[in-house]
Amino acid sequence: MNESITLVPAGPEDVPGIVELCLSVERQHEAYWPLRWQLRSDLRQRYHRWLESNLTTARWLILCAKAGASAGPVPPLVGVLVAAIQEEIPIYLYREYAFIHDMAVIPEYRRRGVADKLLQEARCWAGRHGVNQIRAMVAVENHAATELFSQAGYRATYREMVQAAE
Ligand SMILES: CC(C)(COP(=O)(O)OP(=O)(O)OC[C@H]1O[C@@H](n2cnc3c(N)ncnc32)[C@H](O)[C@@H]1OP(=O)(O)O)[C@@H](O)C(=O)NCCC(=O)NCCS
Repeated sequence: MNESITLVPAGPEDVPGIVELCLSVERQHEAYWPLRWQLRSDLRQRYHRWLESNLTTARWLILCAKAGASAGPVPPLVGVLVAAIQEEIPIYLYREYAFIHDMAVIPEYRRRGVADKLLQEARCWAGRHGVNQIRAMVAVENHAATELFSQAGYRATYREMVQAAE
């Protein structure tokens, strides 16, 4: 398939599709270990509200990847990346950093460079917002994402350690 992928800022019409993509990532996490990632039953509504309320928030990036040459008037959503500029605790020389909250590509469009394209754009967006770094949290079990971020030039820093309380 030779469809071109276009990156566009999300509009209200994209929110339902983005929510489903984000939910699929959260369910993936929940399956790794419910103790750490068990989801609330009303997560779909929460995601809707969270995304809708931040569509036009300054220093937020809700970026859709759409398949340009597909049939039909509305190009389908094939991937998403949600990021925001966040404040760092006041012990480092820099004050803020860009953080990738969510990223996913629908299964049918994986391994075609969609996520890589989203990451490149997010990196430039972070630079335009005056921060010196962009971060993401990647579950240790998520080999595809670990490989993706490594290939894109990200360096692993923290490893979160979790144990059930007694
Ligand atoms: C992780 C994910 C976003 C990757 O999306 P993608 O569009 O398929 O990634 P790309 O095609 O841009 O891949 C770029 C590179 O990342 C690496 N990569 C991506 N998926 C991989 C996989 N399943 N296994 C190994 N390496 C992988 C490869 O190096 C790849 O380059 P190559 O195809 O030339 O070998 C996608 O698999 C996904 O949506 N997974 C479920 C949600 C998720 O885990 N999100 C990340 C949360 S942090």
